[in-house]
Amino acid sequence: MREKPIGSRLTEELSTPQTDSQRHLEAMVQVSRALGSIMDMNQLIPAILKQVTYTFCAERSSLFLYDAEHDQLCARVAEGLDQQRTLELRLPANQGVVGQVFQTHENRLIHDTKKDPNFAKRVAQSTGYVPRSMMVCPVFHGLHNVTGVIQVLHSDPNHFHETDLSLLEAIAVQVAISLENAQLYEKQKRQFSSFVRAFSTALDARDPSTQEHSLNVANIAQGIGYYLGLSFEILDRLRVAGLLHDVGKIGTPEAILKKPGKLDPDEFAIMKEHAAYSMQILSQIEFTDEYEDLARVASLHHEKLDGSGYPYGMKADELNIETRILAVADIYHAMTQDRIYRKGMPTEKALGIIDDMTPNQLDEACVMALKQFLGYPSSS
Ligand SMILES: [Fe+2]
Ligand SMILES: [Fe+2]
Repeated sequence: MREKPIGSRLTEELSTPQTDSQRHLEAMVQVSRALGSIMDMNQLIPAILKQVTYTFCAERSSLFLYDAEHDQLCARVAEGLDQQRTLELRLPANQGVVGQVFQTHENRLIHDTKKDPNFAKRVAQSTGYVPRSMMVCPVFHGLHNVTGVIQVLHSDPNHFHETDLSLLEAIAVQVAISLENAQLYEKQKRQFSSFVRAFSTALDARDPSTQEHSLNVANIAQGIGYYLGLSFEILDRLRVAGLLHDVGKIGTPEAILKKPGKLDPDEFAIMKEHAAYSMQILSQIEFTDEYEDLARVASLHHEKLDGSGYPYGMKADELNIETRILAVADIYHAMTQDRIYRKGMPTEKALGIIDDMTPNQLDEACVMALKQFLGYPSSS
């Protein structure tokens, strides 16, 4: 049999303060466990509401976040009794029970909405669900700023009690921490992403003949990864690795980088050093866990499965799927891109050369995925 929700047990028993503390603690542990590992805002809010609804044996919960630009409180709420369909509900920040809690920073426990003059019945009716019992708590950002309001609802009157309200208050603190963490995490991700993009643009701009090479390699690598059925996390890593793979060209002399013709053997040897420089530069960056292997993935793009590549002459067993993808994306784009001294190769010709290098030097599955990405039938 399913265990009774904590809120239900709390409201059924007139428990001692000691028992209340223990149960509050139990609920908080469950909430922390549920929310602690989620950093994506799109997943976090539904997870919060699911956990809160369950904890209080409620029918639904909503989290209103303050939209300062419009001075409104905004939430996605379930439509009618259908929990799958949602609609965006916007309320003026000073109206209804939610607005009142937002303005006063004080919790509200309403035993019967029919008797509460602040209850916005018409707004509730517009969602197809009219609650009789409500608990509403502010969600603080920092010590004094309120960033939103959480409400828990039931269609029976007198469903919630004072003990529930104090538990919701404690949960609201946890919710605020989780929201702040998620917002901070998203901000860091955006910052990292814009840094990588700006860095790769600056790099590509150094050599006008290979303009947007990094961006294109990133896109092609992601396309190959997509057709190989790789996870979103790996596709994201491929994007960043693609944008940064030639970062070592920062150390390549301009005269070689911009030479309007074929490089002689000595110049080519210097050009080849960029891959090792990429490793040196990227190894010094402290990446977060999801990009842990990035220096290696990005800088091994000239290695070949038979050990004939550079800078380390690694063989197949040392080259993982991400490095193999990047190698295919890089060589394809390098061959088909226009240079100052030559036109880019037609796709067919480049694929012919790539076919000759496969499977000895390039990974067969990656080449197949490249062709799919380019719109060729998977068998060609
Ligand atoms: Fe390169
Ligand atoms: Fe490259």
